[in-house]
Amino acid sequence: MSHKNILITGGAGFIGNHVVRLFVNKYPECRIVCLDKLTYAGNLANLSDVEAKPNYAFVRADIADIDEMRRIIREYEIDGIIHLAAESHVDRSITDPLTFARTNVMGTLSLLQAAREYWESLPERYDGKLFYHISTDEVYGALPLSHPDGIPAPFATRASSGVSHEAYGDEFFTELTRYNPHSPYSAAKASSDHFVRAWHDTYGMPVVVTNCSNNYGPYQFPEKLIPLFINNIRHRRPLPVYGRGENVRDWLYVEDHARAIDTIFHHGKSGETYNIGGFNEWKNIDIVRLLVNTVDRLLGRPEGADLDLITYVTDRPGHDLRYAIDSRKLQSELGWEPSLQFEEGIEKTVRWYLDNQDWLDNVTSGDYQQYYARMYGNR
Ligand code: NAD
Ligand code: TYD
Repeated sequence: MSHKNILITGGAGFIGNHVVRLFVNKYPECRIVCLDKLTYAGNLANLSDVEAKPNYAFVRADIADIDEMRRIIREYEIDGIIHLAAESHVDRSITDPLTFARTNVMGTLSLLQAAREYWESLPERYDGKLFYHISTDEVYGALPLSHPDGIPAPFATRASSGVSHEAYGDEFFTELTRYNPHSPYSAAKASSDHFVRAWHDTYGMPVVVTNCSNNYGPYQFPEKLIPLFINNIRHRRPLPVYGRGENVRDWLYVEDHARAIDTIFHHGKSGETYNIGGFNEWKNIDIVRLLVNTVDRLLGRPEGADLDLITYVTDRPGHDLRYAIDSRKLQSELGWEPSLQFEEGIEKTVRWYLDNQDWLDNVTSGDYQQYYARMYGNR
């Protein structure tokens, strides 16, 4: 399937900018239209290296504005959509749930409806079209820590120890796991996933849905665990670990996610769901220690000198205990594999944030929002 005009929503956000960069550079014959509202999480500085490319265009718009979605999809003759735009931070969803419903649910619905109207108006209808919806493993709820070996070691360790994934049975999220979201964020994402599948089943729209585990890497907004803590360690500020730091997340380097999106966009089967993850589970407290040791070493401080910044704070309400993705379907059917071991990815990530303190200062000061307000008007 070859797409000519690809719309990437949320392209100025953390994962989106990596996807836009990959597509703009890899597919010079395609026009890549990056659509973003530029909320606090969207930052055009993330895309400064691609903005002058002839196959790149940026449009500032709100996905919940259906008339704008209709206009943009028609004007750019969009034949492929990669939909990442969303409110993405669980803690914000607890204090401001309605914004999450508006963007993640109504925004996705507006985009689906606008795409449907345009594609159904064409002689070829849905032929050669694709709506690719990016979702999260958080829709599946939480897993227990009841692993036979305690908390599973990273994939490579387990593979070399000869323990088969079969042995873990339903202790991983598979594509068939029942949805059971707990936070307003994951409930809104779950709802949007259902709408995307309904557009496939009811109207025959070609869609794929992917559910990915936690991402880390450059350009992540420093409200999320890894960039927040790197910045705090650098400035010797407290590191607020929720609860006892026992919660487990399954971490994937963001460029590996972008490669998976490319693979699935081009080779995934319409109507299918693919889970994306690197079999890389870590307890929060172990990540925090790894971050402290890495930042200290790279800044020439005695390793571990800043461990006393760790501060245990009241737990997040409804805090999911463990996420763990089974991505064997994607690996065996489409041949995708994660490229980085976690320690290597963390080293790259810490170096990037330490080398890009200006980027961090800029997004934490809010200066960039004032810049966009001048450039595009304040919406
Ligand atoms: P992010 O918060 O960094 O970026 C979201 C982007 O969407 C921002 O650029 C923001 O300006 C834009 N946006 C928000 N509301 C909008 C609206 N109404 N209209 C247009 N644009 C709007 O998020 P992220 O971490 O890059 O996540 C991207 C997608 O991937 C989300 O759908 C998220 O649910 C999903 N996901 C994220 C992770 C992760 O670990 N970050 C893991 C799995 C899935
Ligand atoms: P986060 O990066 O917010 O991602 P998500 O909630 O989508 O998994 O958080 C990752 C884990 O780190 C999660 O278990 C909550 C925990 N956490 C803290 O302990 N302290 C913090 O300040 C933050 C932001 C997260």
